[in-house]
Amino acid sequence: MSVKLNDKYLSGFVSQHEYDCIRPLLTSAHEQIVNRNGAGNDFLGWVDLPENYDKEEFARIKVAAEKIKKSCDVFIVIGIGGSYLGARAVIEFLKSPNYNNIKKDTPDIYFAGCDISAASIAELVEICEGRDVCINVISKSGTTTEPAVAFRVFRGMLEKKYGVEGAKERIFVTTDKARGTLKGFSDKMGYDTYVVPDDVGGRFSVLTAVGLLPIAVAGIDIDALMQGAADARKAYSVNDIETNDAYRYAAIRNILYNKGKTTEILAGYESYARMFNEWFKQLYGESEGKDQKGIFPASVIFSTDLHSLGQYIQDGMRNLFETVISIEDTGVSFNIPYDEENIDGLNFVANTDLNTVKKLAMQGTLLAHVDGGVPNILIEVADRSAYSMGYLIYFFEIACAVSGYMLGVNPFNQPGVEAYKKNMFALLGKPGYEDMKAELEARLK
Ligand code: PA5
Repeated sequence: MSVKLNDKYLSGFVSQHEYDCIRPLLTSAHEQIVNRNGAGNDFLGWVDLPENYDKEEFARIKVAAEKIKKSCDVFIVIGIGGSYLGARAVIEFLKSPNYNNIKKDTPDIYFAGCDISAASIAELVEICEGRDVCINVISKSGTTTEPAVAFRVFRGMLEKKYGVEGAKERIFVTTDKARGTLKGFSDKMGYDTYVVPDDVGGRFSVLTAVGLLPIAVAGIDIDALMQGAADARKAYSVNDIETNDAYRYAAIRNILYNKGKTTEILAGYESYARMFNEWFKQLYGESEGKDQKGIFPASVIFSTDLHSLGQYIQDGMRNLFETVISIEDTGVSFNIPYDEENIDGLNFVANTDLNTVKKLAMQGTLLAHVDGGVPNILIEVADRSAYSMGYLIYFFEIACAVSGYMLGVNPFNQPGVEAYKKNMFALLGKPGYEDMKAELEARLK
């Protein structure tokens, strides 16, 4: 098993009796997934995806990735939320948060259309000057404003540089198989298109073309990624709170939530996990935060954030629990150098691998936070491989669905995301929103 849940730091916070009491709720959540009769059941396509994915499209993704690698220096991934976070999380986790600056034979990768910032887009346009560029625009609905704006900008840039026909060879589109403005436009233009399956929502889509194409361009083994997820699917298919760690994690979250632990902090000890934490926050925040319920997902990277949020976690409001991710074999070691003069007094750790120092810092922090009244769930990930990444992704996805059903919400919709969009459209003067515009403007005065 590439992912193991260690619940030793929960003793005193969660009792056997509580596990026993929550079993029926877990069973009900399990049955809703297996029988596909729970809320939002038409969005359960990701459950079997690691086995039942489109093999023909998977092969096309590999071919496209090779073509992109050969034909550009800069690859721009355009998308927002579930349409970009998974790819970015995996690339940074397995390659580096400094991916664009490391030695590599793959293109630089930039993400666009994930904000509304003139500075970001102007900077990226400048970065592209004098360099060969390909883009992958990703939008399931094909209508989301942020990526649509970025696509307009970078498509225009490519058409100016390579002509409409030349640009066509450099534009890759991932969208709905039949619906939406982007699909219609891509068909008209003859772009190479990939599918976001109907039954897979954005935040569960990293193992579809949404994530796989950018991940493959970064030179990551997508076969291994899928294999990890497929093995996780097998491991997490049984309704057993003792042996199914994903189900146990979902159960623990709900037990803690019912005891007032309403914020979960996902803690990593490697900077390359920062975007993975962001992916996790969207997955859980958008799946559970509804009907005035849900655990608030937060994240930290230690030891960095022990020097910013450490005080609060140790001693602030006691509504927190932590889920700590430990990478057991990081694949890199770095010894602290010995210094003859020892002016800094650090020779007591000279020749010690930083992995060892990190492990001890983690253990010390776990004990300190538990002493401070913060339950800690430890998730041990075997290594930093594509296989383990796929395993971990599936662990969090299935746990999220089970946890959401246990909470009594539909984990697969996101009605709340529409509220800001409607207001923004009205204020921008989009046709059809005229009535709202006056009312909102009056409130802003
Ligand atoms: O998880 C989700 O469904 C959302 O985060 C979407 O991915 C995000 O809003 C982008 O939507 P779209 O892919 O339709 O542009």
